[in-house]
Amino acid sequence: KEWTTLLFYVNGRRIEEKKADPKTTLATYLRDYLHLTGTKIGCNEGGCGACTVMISEIHPLTEKIVHYSANACLMPLCMLFGKAVTTVEGIGNVKKMHPVQERMALCHGSQCGFCTPGFVMAMYSLLRNHPKPTKEQVDESIQGNLCRCTGYRPILDAFYSFCSTDNGSKSSDVEIRVNDQLHGVENGRIVNGCGMGDKCCKNKKNQDENTKTQLTDLSKVKDYDETQEPIFPPEVQIK
Ligand code: FES
Ligand code: FES
Repeated sequence: KEWTTLLFYVNGRRIEEKKADPKTTLATYLRDYLHLTGTKIGCNEGGCGACTVMISEIHPLTEKIVHYSANACLMPLCMLFGKAVTTVEGIGNVKKMHPVQERMALCHGSQCGFCTPGFVMAMYSLLRNHPKPTKEQVDESIQGNLCRCTGYRPILDAFYSFCSTDNGSKSSDVEIRVNDQLHGVENGRIVNGCGMGDKCCKNKKNQDENTKTQLTDLSKVKDYDETQEPIFPPEVQIK
């Protein structure tokens, strides 16, 4: 078959673009033409990851379906022939969140929210390839994403919860390590920067530096089930 149009899929929707502008990036196309504004444009030069989406395609050599995350702000629209794009709108919404979104919210991994779709899609792309990733794989998968609000810890708490643990628990292994020195007022002087005296919250418990405290209970969240993900569109399984 001879193709004269740009055929690709976005979140399962067939797109046939007859007048694709070679200067248009995927990020601009998603936001301005398809009105999928979940994909954010921050730096617009590949540095912040706010525009991260997942691309799926048939690998030309292995002929197997591959999934990878990509910066939509760097990807020319015309590169998308025969590919399937998944944006944050394609994996879940406020009524039915994807497990990545659900855990991100429960762990308070989103504040202003500008970076959140990019982080979610980077993690989602990892899960599509490795449903039980290691922490190193999680770290690597989000190394191109920046957040100016959270300090990253809540985001990592959410994402590490997908990693297999020794006891099979999916609880976030959030640890609070507390200095065993008392905080408060001693002989009229403030000790360790707190003027609350005996009422200093750090004196109440967790004096043992090995004490672990869970900040978020993820015991009731649903497991990630990779068999429920959308299939690759059969029409673009072009060899
Ligand atoms: Fe910053 Fe694309 S907008 S990487
Ligand atoms: Fe604001 Fe990440 S939540 S930049």
